[in-house]
Amino acid sequence: MIVLGIDTSCDDTSVAVLKDRQILSEIVSSQVELHRLFGGVVPEIASRRHLEVIDKIFLEVLKEASLEPRDIEVVSVTSGPGLIGSLLVGLSFAKGLCSSLSIPLVCVNHVHAHAMSVFLERDVEFPFIGLIASGGHTMILLVENQTSFTVLGTTRDDAAGEAFDKAAKFFGLPYPGGIIVEELARNGKKDRIPFPRPMVEERTYDMSFSGLKTALINYVRKEGLNEVSRADVLASFQEAIVETLVRKTLRAAEDCQVKTVVLGGGVAANERLRELMVERGKEMNMTVLFPSKRFCLDNASMVAVTGHFLARAGRFSPLDAAAFSRMAPGVYGP
Ligand code: KG4
Ligand code: ZN
Repeated sequence: MIVLGIDTSCDDTSVAVLKDRQILSEIVSSQVELHRLFGGVVPEIASRRHLEVIDKIFLEVLKEASLEPRDIEVVSVTSGPGLIGSLLVGLSFAKGLCSSLSIPLVCVNHVHAHAMSVFLERDVEFPFIGLIASGGHTMILLVENQTSFTVLGTTRDDAAGEAFDKAAKFFGLPYPGGIIVEELARNGKKDRIPFPRPMVEERTYDMSFSGLKTALINYVRKEGLNEVSRADVLASFQEAIVETLVRKTLRAAEDCQVKTVVLGGGVAANERLRELMVERGKEMNMTVLFPSKRFCLDNASMVAVTGHFLARAGRFSPLDAAAFSRMAPGVYGP
């Protein structure tokens, strides 16, 4: 089955084409340079740029795969959660294709797609616990099979990636901050400052990261950077986020008696998160899996592979399907 995947949920325009889960071609067109000027994503600028480039990227992807539009059998598109204007560009483009080619549409939940990205490179047995941590979402999922999952916990305020981005911004570092914080943290002492591990002792799987960002700002304003370096602050901050994610995720796996944990989302590219999850997972006899870094970040291949699974299960969407900006906790959508 040849599936075209489209993701325009945030600031990357991505289109991919998969044949039976094999990537024939994929383009991720980053808008980072456009938004860097403003220190974060500007929704109106993002949707305009998606609109300017999506048709060209679509044609380029087909050319690279040596395919014609009529070869596409299913169009799979992210319909939420995300920035509504951005989502609507991808969704409208997908609907236009389906309508003109008389092929089915599959709407995909972006968080579901992050949880399925691991399937681009391997098979994983169900059920598993998914930790999806990115700039827009931080969720712990019980993934029952390829087409259904339950949200066990979510951040109550900032996403983990957002916390990385805000810490970077505080130090005047460019957007997006995660990768830069990780690089700087490599030269710092992760146990130097005892930042809190928010909500780790509470029985809920919900998380909170905005207080941690405030703790960092308060620390630097009060103590300054005389005794400790910026690298120490960032390493300690990263450790607090990572340890919170690891403890919450592994507790969910233990409580659900699930032996496999899968990571996804931009923050899953973080080496320290990968390392600590594997280390602690091993102690609990759990298998920890994660996609290659390029598939942790937003990409259309994960949307296409999720669309492949949904199409196989007959889960097609009507041509009047709506985009949605937020995901209700505990609810599988769309
Ligand atoms: O999944 P993604 O590309 O987009 C969203 O769906 O949000 O994730 C982007 C987020 C940004 O907040 C970025 O700072 C963070 O992931 N990120 C990282 C790393 N690489 C990207 N955070 C920590 N360490 C990294 N290596
Ligand atoms: Zn994402």
